[in-house]
Amino acid sequence: MSNKKEFLQELISFLQGKGFVWGPEPEIYGGTAGFYTYAPLGKLLKNKVEEVIRKTFQQQEFFEVECPIVMERKVWEASGHLKGFTDAMISCVKCKSNFRLDQLLENYPETHTFKKPEEYLEFIKKKNIKCPSCGGEFKPDIKKHDLMMKTRVGIDKEAYNRPETATATYLPFLRFTDFFRRQPWFGVFQIGKAFRNEISPRQHIIRMREFTQAESQLFIKEELKNNFEKYKEIENDVLPLWDYKSQKANKKPEKIKIKDALKKGFFKSQAYAWNIAIGYKLFRNIRIPEDKIRIRQHFPDEKAFYADDAWDIEINTRSFGWIEVCGVHDRTDYDLKQHEKFSKTELKAFDEATGKKYVPHVLEIAFGTDRPVFALLDLFYEKKEKEQGKTIFKIPYHLSPIPIAVFPLMKKPELVKKARNVYNLLQKNFLCVYDETGAIGRRYLRAAETGTAFCITIDYETLEKKPETVTIRDRDTEKQVRAKIEELKETLRALINEEKKFEELK
Ligand code: GLY
Repeated sequence: MSNKKEFLQELISFLQGKGFVWGPEPEIYGGTAGFYTYAPLGKLLKNKVEEVIRKTFQQQEFFEVECPIVMERKVWEASGHLKGFTDAMISCVKCKSNFRLDQLLENYPETHTFKKPEEYLEFIKKKNIKCPSCGGEFKPDIKKHDLMMKTRVGIDKEAYNRPETATATYLPFLRFTDFFRRQPWFGVFQIGKAFRNEISPRQHIIRMREFTQAESQLFIKEELKNNFEKYKEIENDVLPLWDYKSQKANKKPEKIKIKDALKKGFFKSQAYAWNIAIGYKLFRNIRIPEDKIRIRQHFPDEKAFYADDAWDIEINTRSFGWIEVCGVHDRTDYDLKQHEKFSKTELKAFDEATGKKYVPHVLEIAFGTDRPVFALLDLFYEKKEKEQGKTIFKIPYHLSPIPIAVFPLMKKPELVKKARNVYNLLQKNFLCVYDETGAIGRRYLRAAETGTAFCITIDYETLEKKPETVTIRDRDTEKQVRAKIEELKETLRALINEEKKFEELK
């Protein structure tokens, strides 16, 4: 068994045991692949990640909306998903397992140029590629697997659970143009559920059939794409870019200034480059380490059917290696034109300066919130070296599911009483737990396992000296300092929000 697989098993049992993620659900019925429950700590973490995403988009003047999940057939005919949203699939003759062709061949970039099924089949034969589950031969047949999840509205109206939030975001376009008072560009985003009937999802919450997407859409007049006012803010940012030619030549990603990437022709427009920069910022805002991120250009044949320019942000996880966590797409005027055609409603903006109508282009930052959550769990889960079998979740403090724990040093009435008072004071402002069971060392360990950033302990010095103080213990350094109770709220707020470093408290 590979190290990655062993690590994943260890991680999953940690996630289940500590209450981060349960499933596949429904567990008591045997479970269906691709459906999971966020247990209490996992849900708190996911909420925090989504809050960072929300803030990052809002800081860029994007407004959040929430559109319906279920839409009638016609919408998906128009969007192209009914016809084009499929995965090429191949099956094993022996064990009958089905595999996504692109996943099966992910280590063979040369297959990117293939067009016909026969080319793939020949390649599989030539390289003697066998079924990863049982070593069997593949059926010489490549099928299209439909990813749309069908449902029904009322008695018999055919409808589908959305496979992306984006399409639902485009439909109220005329309402947006009014709301944004005909500005030549505006941004909206959605965070919500989407559904994909994956062939055989096996990668925990990385690939679910029901998952949460966070997708922003920048509507922009085509002429402004290369004269975009926000571009200046990011042109000197440096990004780890891996264009498809470098991938083909087995070269590494390059750290490169955005303005130089544009000169090299990596991106087609300033507005597109800006979207890449915001996508990257998002992952840095949730503290994915810089050396674990790369931005990979799609091969020309790899792009989704609606995308003109397409790059993915990828994270290097311990469980799966590099995984795609975000796609940035220039969808041009494709969607608005399609929905205009199918709905027979004119979907055009009005340029007050020229008096002319136009169809804006749409650039999107598309990702799921589950993958960054998984990446955080995967990257910040650690085994403590000194204490065998003990684990610690070193999640950045601002994302800690329950950032504070309050303990009386011992279960003595006078300490318990004071500790309860301190807990009552803090829990109005922070999510915190109170714990008085077991030795103090064990309680520190328990808190570290769930990612709690700071433990507050009430001891005899708290009761005996004025002004009243408690100890604050830092999860990562295991160091302690004394802090005044009257300043505790402010001190903890500054520590959690990284406005102050623990060492500065001494
Ligand atoms: N909206 C693009 C995607 O779902 O990947």
